[in-house]
Amino acid sequence: MSEEFDFFNHVKKVYRLLLLLFSLFVLAGSSLVYYMVNPGFFNFKKSPEIQIAVEELDPDRIENGIHVSTGFVDAEGLMTVVRNCTACHSSKLILQNRMNAERWNATIKWMQETQNLPDLGKNQEIIVNYLATNYPPVDTGRRAILTNIEWYELKD
Ligand code: HEC
Repeated sequence: MSEEFDFFNHVKKVYRLLLLLFSLFVLAGSSLVYYMVNPGFFNFKKSPEIQIAVEELDPDRIENGIHVSTGFVDAEGLMTVVRNCTACHSSKLILQNRMNAERWNATIKWMQETQNLPDLGKNQEIIVNYLATNYPPVDTGRRAILTNIEWYELKD
């Protein structure tokens, strides 16, 4: 009877040991998996918190005289231009051009004839005024004379 009891106790011990081993195994395994998914978890040296300034996302924000979301200068007619001229293409396409009123008008006419730009009505004058005033052609002509050159002597 006691032998049987001993045996039973033994089995119990072994069973507990196995259970312990098994739980350790599961624990190690799951922490490994967790680590793989989230490698920063065991990095106890906390990195300083990164703060991201959430800027006011006002699309009509103007900073230093520039309409931030388009890059247009803030001047009379700005919003008319923004509303009528940035639906199909980026404002960059406009900003990379400098023209007089006549050529801005011609560009608008060209878009109306070929690119489905609708008639702008009274807004056209406002737009062209804005563009010709703020983005007139610049006369660069010849390049400026070079200055600050370090000439060197030719040696044999
Ligand atoms: C209905 C759509 C539409 C609207 C609105 C529109 N455009 Fe355009 N625009 C175009 C297309 C299409 C092109 C050609 C784009 C390309 O070549 O990739 C273009 C090209 C241009 C170009 C470049 C022309 C060139 O010769 O390279 C300028 C400048 C321009 N647009 C100015 C304006 C201005 C100013 C307004 C506001 C009055 C305006 N666009 C509104 C469709 C439009």
